[in-house]
Amino acid sequence: MSPEEPQTEIARLIAEIERHNRLYYDQAEPEISDAEYDALFRRLESLEAEYPLFADPNSPTRRVGGSPSEGFEQVRHPVPMLSIDDLFEIPADELDRREARTGRRPLKERELVEFYSRLQKGLGRERVPVTIEPKIDGVAVSLVYRGGRLDYAATRGDGRTGDVITANVRTIRSVPLSLPESAGAPDTLEIRGEIFMTGAGFAKLNEERDEAGLATFANPRNATAGTLKMLDSREVGKRPLDFIAHGMGLVEGGEIATITDFHALLDRIGIRKNEPLVLAETLEEVLAAVRRLDEVRHDLPHATDGAVIKVIDREAQEQLGYTSRAPRWAAAYKYPPEQKETTLLDITVQVGRTGKLTPVAELAPVFVSGTTVRRATLHNESFIHERGIGIGDVVLIQKAGEIIPEVIRVVSKKEGGEPYSLSARLGGVCPVCAGPIECRETVSGSKAESRGVTTHFCVNFECAAQVASRIRQFVSRKALDIEGIGSIVAEKLVERELIRSPLDLFEIPGGTLAALNLGTEENPRIFGEKNAAKIVRTRERAAKEMPLSRWLFAMGISQVGESAARELARLHRNFGELARSGILAELRTLKTGESKEKNPLLAPYEIASEVGPVAAASVLDFFQSPAGLAVLDRLAALGIDPQSDHYAPIPAENAAGPGKALAGKTFVITGTLSAARDVIAARILEAGGKVSGSVSKNTDYLLAGEGGGSKRDKALSLGVAVIDEAELDALLSGASAPPEES
Ligand code: IVH
Repeated sequence: MSPEEPQTEIARLIAEIERHNRLYYDQAEPEISDAEYDALFRRLESLEAEYPLFADPNSPTRRVGGSPSEGFEQVRHPVPMLSIDDLFEIPADELDRREARTGRRPLKERELVEFYSRLQKGLGRERVPVTIEPKIDGVAVSLVYRGGRLDYAATRGDGRTGDVITANVRTIRSVPLSLPESAGAPDTLEIRGEIFMTGAGFAKLNEERDEAGLATFANPRNATAGTLKMLDSREVGKRPLDFIAHGMGLVEGGEIATITDFHALLDRIGIRKNEPLVLAETLEEVLAAVRRLDEVRHDLPHATDGAVIKVIDREAQEQLGYTSRAPRWAAAYKYPPEQKETTLLDITVQVGRTGKLTPVAELAPVFVSGTTVRRATLHNESFIHERGIGIGDVVLIQKAGEIIPEVIRVVSKKEGGEPYSLSARLGGVCPVCAGPIECRETVSGSKAESRGVTTHFCVNFECAAQVASRIRQFVSRKALDIEGIGSIVAEKLVERELIRSPLDLFEIPGGTLAALNLGTEENPRIFGEKNAAKIVRTRERAAKEMPLSRWLFAMGISQVGESAARELARLHRNFGELARSGILAELRTLKTGESKEKNPLLAPYEIASEVGPVAAASVLDFFQSPAGLAVLDRLAALGIDPQSDHYAPIPAENAAGPGKALAGKTFVITGTLSAARDVIAARILEAGGKVSGSVSKNTDYLLAGEGGGSKRDKALSLGVAVIDEAELDALLSGASAPPEES
């Protein structure tokens, strides 16, 4: 290597790792697997060690990673939240290669052996007592209790400063808000642990999101991180989050001398501790504990990809000390994701609500990471093509994030087997309805490594598979809330050809519904009068009362989830306006990254991020498609014309002339208030005010609740008026216009 090569390579790796840090910590949308990230990190570490001259003090190897997100208050951790160094288990195929090369088979736990011997050398003794416990694959949090009450909860952030997410954490039932006096907890007690989602909770959440046309999460960790970043804690409260403690931070006014004491305290205050916890005093015991944990970890409620090994004794910990990012007295042993070989028996095709055709691998059943896997998504044609997958091949599978099965690669081709072509198999028609299909090319991946992805869609709006799932969406609680129609009823209605599109629901006679047989000829199960009456009553309500936003969401148009539907109904009065929308036509011409605010035609509307160029195009395309036009005709024939119940395209402040109480005033909200922030924000918006996320010289008022330190300081320094809720009420109520600022 010439001298400038390592230097450029180091710089490249730093930039690359920083980018993945942002994707992982800030956006909760990682592009690469943990193993790939670890490989980059290690490559950088070894280059820096080899060429210390080029080592950068701001390298990600020297800090804890991630930066706090906007929108939350920040707090400095009283004791830094450190990272842990990883010790990787050598995967079986790597062991084979090394054995072939050197004639000796290394121990797969070699890095763990080296770690333990570093402990022994550092302390100058043979026996080093350590604990071994699961590494929980969740989101790290710090809970600070003062005087027996939860003072705040914070994320790890960059390890020194984290986001205050108390409101969100309060919604987690396993986090006590106050500690029983009898527990004898120290005055200040910082408990550290992980917030996570159980596999079952995660699966249910994804199912609901999928139904609602929202993007699903890749794994429970992403779902947890995404949830904790939400600004509306009521939404957080609906997500299945849980907490387990694994350590302590600051402790004042009391002493917790040993791990046993800490665990006894956790029991007294009712916080779940991280189990199983094993004590070991020799290398043999450590190896045995780590291997045993690998066998039982799949039975734990949370995803676990490793074992954490910690030196017990406090003095020994201090003696071993710290690197700039992690203690030398602890390490995380990482199990490789379990991979299994199995035969690809067949490839079937699923039709989603939007008509997307997803190829699914039908596998010879194999037991992987705790469950029997029979199917795995193959995503799209490009995925199959890139991996050269064919029916009859032996493939390697693993579970992404230990949950969702995926096909990694082909291990051996079936003799004489052909590569599978989804296009050829489909032969231009949908496997369910034999209707026409369309091939769409999209671009995925980073700018540097973008690649084309081919996805097939069934474009027959009346395809039975699409119709059934569209009906479920149409009648769902957040859509038109038509009662009495579950999955089975929806499927039967389609199967019996009583329904070909959701709007047919409005024309089935009550008597036909009542007589519907949900069972079989021999074993009939009749739907009945009462259930039929429920449908008739609630469909009347949908036709007469449901506002435009509900109807729009019910349509299941791609890219139009609940919030996009609300925003569209703020900008338009009815379907007619939407179909001919000038706003959407302008919006769809924006290039990616081009801002709506800078476009003079769009700026006054202050369109929310849920409605961007892609959503705009999707809505316009829908209303111009045969299916969309048919929907409009049909609604007209049925005499249904839903109207927006919150039409206000131009926010009051942008509209000419005075009007509402808070017109033209910009508010920033901070601290803990009597209601969720967005509830208060909605009141301000309704009164014509504007709500912004950060204090600037353009801010008129800072509405400050309890806490809210840094924003308050900033407001005071800029001379921005700081008000409390009572003062906001005064502004909102009597006063027709807010008082002049002093
Ligand atoms: S102890 C000084 N124990 O892993 C050591 N951490 O890379 C402090 N984690 O985000 C951490 N399970 O929150 C510890 N049983 C466990 C853990 C655990 C998961 C997380 C931790 C941190 C990351 C460190």
